[in-house]
Amino acid sequence: MNIKSDKYTALLNQIPNLIDKNISLVSNLASISAVLKDCFDFFWVGFYIVDGDRLVIGPYQGPLACVEIPFGKGVCGACWEKGEAILVPDVHSFEGHISCNADSKSEIVVPVFGKDDKVDIVLDIDSTQLDTFDDCDVRNLKKLGKIIVMVL
Ligand code: SME
Repeated sequence: MNIKSDKYTALLNQIPNLIDKNISLVSNLASISAVLKDCFDFFWVGFYIVDGDRLVIGPYQGPLACVEIPFGKGVCGACWEKGEAILVPDVHSFEGHISCNADSKSEIVVPVFGKDDKVDIVLDIDSTQLDTFDDCDVRNLKKLGKIIVMVL
């Protein structure tokens, strides 16, 4: 299975079977980050969790990353502030981008809305290639966000 949309379809069918309302959010996000990394071989995939006026690192797969991101800062903070997914074809062209790893070249960031319609979590995925992500990723990762709400 090579087509990205088919991989997402399979993954989005699998994930509801992996998650469990009776275990912690962190445990559920850990499983989701693992399958995302495994399926697409992303360079970095992880979750930042809203904590007061900052994002704090949650479960992730990949190299060591920034622990805290203030509201509105970097791509993740901008995603939180705007409540919108952000595609970054070239991280060097995004003003205020926070570089956690020099190998990261492009990025996609998607908000996960809680039951009160506020952003509770930001999903961040990085690639070592330019222009890796597109509308297919946005569409499917938003669907993933709606699944994650079930374990919030
Ligand atoms: N580049 C992000 C920081 C997080 S790392 O990429 C894992 C940003 O600008 O918010």
